[in-house]
Amino acid sequence: MSEPLYQLVYYSRNAVAGDEATFAEAVDAILEASRRNNPAVGITGALLFNAGCFAQVLEGPLSAVEATFERIQQDERHGDVSLLALEPIAARTFGTWAMGFVGRSAENADRFAAVGAGSGFDPERLGGQRIHEILRDLTLQEEALAA
Ligand SMILES: Cc1cc2nc3c(=O)[nH]c(=O)nc-3n(C[C@H](O)[C@H](O)[C@H](O)COP(=O)(O)O)c2cc1C
Repeated sequence: MSEPLYQLVYYSRNAVAGDEATFAEAVDAILEASRRNNPAVGITGALLFNAGCFAQVLEGPLSAVEATFERIQQDERHGDVSLLALEPIAARTFGTWAMGFVGRSAENADRFAAVGAGSGFDPERLGGQRIHEILRDLTLQEEALAA
C-alpha cells in the first residue's frame, strides 16, 4: 500500500550560545518547525538533548527522511552532525510523535542519566540502535506520564 519506511539516526553538538532560556527558546522553535513540517511529509520521530548533544531519530519515506535531514544538517543551531544509521524498517516506533522531545524534565534527565551513565552519553559509542532504543523508552515513558 504505502512507500517503504526508513529510519535515520544521527547526533550532533549544540551550537546555541547563551543561557538556558535562550536554549529553551531555540528548542521550542525547532520543535515548532518539526511539528509543522513533519506531518505533511510523513515524518515521525524523536529528539533528545543531553550533555551538549542532540540525538534524533527520523522515520518515514526515504525521500522525505533525506530531504528533512538535508535541511537539518545545514542548521547552524548545531554542528558536527554525524549520521549513525539509515536503514529500512518494518514499522514506525514513533508513530504518534510528529517530533517527540526528551531531555527537559527533571524526571527524564534522571532516567537518562541512568541509561547514559555507562557511556557518559557518547553517541558515537552508543550507536544508532542503542540511541533508537533510548529514545523509544524515554518517549514511551513520557507518553505514559502524559496519559
Ligand atoms: C537538532 C535539530 C533538529 C531538527 N529537526 C527538525 C525536524 O524534525 N523537522 C524539521 O522540519 N526541521 C527540523 N529542524 C529545523 C530545520 O533545521 C529547519 O530550520 C526547518 O526545517 C526550517 O523549516 P521552515 O522553513 O518551515 O521554518 C531541526 C533543527 C535542529 C537543530
